Amino acid sequence: MLTYNIHHVAIAVENLDDAIAGFKSRYNVTPISRETVHDQGVTEAMIPIGGSYVQLLEPLSQESPVGRFLSQNGEGMHHIAFAVHDIESALAHLKETGARLIDETPRVGGGGHRIAFVHPNDLAGTLMELVEVEHD
Ligand code: CO
Repeated sequence: MLTYNIHHVAIAVENLDDAIAGFKSRYNVTPISRETVHDQGVTEAMIPIGGSYVQLLEPLSQESPVGRFLSQNGEGMHHIAFAVHDIESALAHLKETGARLIDETPRVGGGGHRIAFVHPNDLAGTLMELVEVEHD
């Protein structure tokens, strides 16, 4: 099996503090980390729920990918991330099957994880992310 878990579901938000307060108020969940990832132009907060996370994304600028997503779509689900043990073989498999990759090679994402994105036009109109996780 290529993926063994949903690592996170990411939601683009206008204001991270407001979104965190809303999730705390409605669902009584709180982030365990908050980090600015300059490579992706976002500040992200990771809220653990079961074995996965909700990842809240606030763009650093309107010109960033998440900033453009918000101007076009408003707040909402941005991508789904699958946990993989070996991101190179996962990417090799995706290439073999003709996937449209945004990242041909892994880059470093939040939490220091190696990640790669697959284009939303590749499958089901949804931006997919692979996150390499060594330990469950
Ligand atoms: Co993500």
